Amino acid sequence: MAILVVRTDEDPILRKKSRKVEQFDEGLVSFAEDMFETMYAAQGVGLAAVQVGRLRRIVVIDDYQGNKFALVNPEIIEESGCEMGTEGCLSIPGKVGDVERFTNIKVKYQTLQGEEKVLEAEEFLARIIQHELDHLDGVLYTDRAEDVRLATVEEYEEVEE
Ligand code: CO
Repeated sequence: MAILVVRTDEDPILRKKSRKVEQFDEGLVSFAEDMFETMYAAQGVGLAAVQVGRLRRIVVIDDYQGNKFALVNPEIIEESGCEMGTEGCLSIPGKVGDVERFTNIKVKYQTLQGEEKVLEAEEFLARIIQHELDHLDGVLYTDRAEDVRLATVEEYEEVEE
């Protein structure tokens, strides 16, 4: 396992679109382990592969409320409701912003073994997933935020994605 370098907002790779994962092998599993380790080291709740320099459609998430998973080739297939909430991003250190997201989503994805699954999420978990899926298309939360501001320490600790 290894802690990878997290790319930050000056890095143009963050604006690129990630490609579909086609190969489900040991390499993918160990890459996901490194992503989790990197996310935990940074105390984040989610991380997309592009943030560590790999343009592949894979994200890892842990909301620290019992929901921990790697989503490969994730796609939102249903969405409803909307709510504002504060977000931060490991690639945009020290800042937060308020973003409107769907309250409830249904996501189709593949596991690290290539198995097709569907998951339903709401509120905070749904927000994390939407934030991470945006990364796969080169979108940052600051593109959607009404205001982006310097975070207070407490705020930043709560919302790092
Ligand atoms: Co982010």
